[in-house]
Amino acid sequence: MQFDNLSAHTLRDPHGYSGKWHFYPEDVLPMWVADMDFPISPAIREAIVERLQERIGYPQMSGDKQLLNRIIQHQQQHGLTGLAPENLLLTTSVVPAIYASVLALSSPGDEAITQVPVYHPFLFALHEHHRVARYNPLLRTASGWEIDFEQLESLVTPRTRLLMLCNPQNPTGRVFRRDELERLAEFALRHRLWVMSDELWADLIYEGKHIPIASLGPEIAQRTVTLSGPCKTYNTAGLGGGVAISHNRQILAALAQVSKGIGGHPNVLSMAAWRAALEHAQDWLQEVRAYLKVNRDFITSFIHQHLPQVGYLPPEGTYLAWLDFSRAPFAQDAHKVMLEQAKVGLNDGKIFGPQYQGWLRLNFATSRNLVQEALERMARVVQTVD
Ligand SMILES: Cc1ncc(COP(=O)(O)O)c(C=O)c1O
Repeated sequence: MQFDNLSAHTLRDPHGYSGKWHFYPEDVLPMWVADMDFPISPAIREAIVERLQERIGYPQMSGDKQLLNRIIQHQQQHGLTGLAPENLLLTTSVVPAIYASVLALSSPGDEAITQVPVYHPFLFALHEHHRVARYNPLLRTASGWEIDFEQLESLVTPRTRLLMLCNPQNPTGRVFRRDELERLAEFALRHRLWVMSDELWADLIYEGKHIPIASLGPEIAQRTVTLSGPCKTYNTAGLGGGVAISHNRQILAALAQVSKGIGGHPNVLSMAAWRAALEHAQDWLQEVRAYLKVNRDFITSFIHQHLPQVGYLPPEGTYLAWLDFSRAPFAQDAHKVMLEQAKVGLNDGKIFGPQYQGWLRLNFATSRNLVQEALERMARVVQTVD
């Protein structure tokens, strides 16, 4: 299996290109920022090389037409239909589209609701721009993470403007079911909220089916901006590239307006890579997904056997394991202890929401032997400290 042959030695490139591999000291196994240690699909590499044979002057600002059509086709496969190129706004990557959505769809002092734990730039965008984050913590139930709809209702005030959804969810790996999305859509419509739905992880799913919230009906489509991009699925984060999609062109015009002059323009290599990914990297993706699923299952059985004191629910999607060390004696310093004693670099849970001190996020998109090495290092520390 090609993804088995990765070693820490080769991944820590001597040029210092990789943020993931050069952030922590050399004796630390980095299992944090969300990119994969796997090489990109040969189809993407070839498309980039081929694109470099052409001039790389300014592209059309609205983006490469063939790419736009491919994105439309791809969204259609997920059930989001009725899109034309005018319903797509290319962005330099997805985070700028998160910020633009907050700026365009709310005003300072307004409130935005989001399920937590959540991808931290959601919260950063709100705090940095003087919006108020209202947290709807996911509930840990016997069957998995569930949305607390009762608490959700209680969060609404006259200042609530925006629902920020992450689906599939980073960091829990939840893939929301149709019934949950229908309730969220009904909630948003009843309270006249805008919806930003970050669906960047939509193609990395092991169980369930990705359903774009905007696909649930014309009314919710009119109030939603869906964000997507190539970087999680095809491991092209360093190239950038993202898209804001809405049936409501006024939403896209508002995003474009707040990004004016700072949004940059689409990157020609990223567009070439994205198109090649959608056209020719599907076998590669299938192989990656299968490999990740086995990694996920390996983690599940390892934790069950060797770290039963750690709370963990296997993710239905993403390559992230969300680990609860909050009852460990070192819960207050879980990140530091894992870094300094286990020599494993993880994401500190507290950035995903204020109540997640003692939680850690582990990225398992690497070779199985490195996943195993990281878990063994962590287990040794837990067993020593317990
Ligand atoms: C939900 C989500 N949105 C956005 C991003 C970042 O996207 P980009 O690198 O395209 O800005 C990530 C990265 O992990 C993510 O998990």
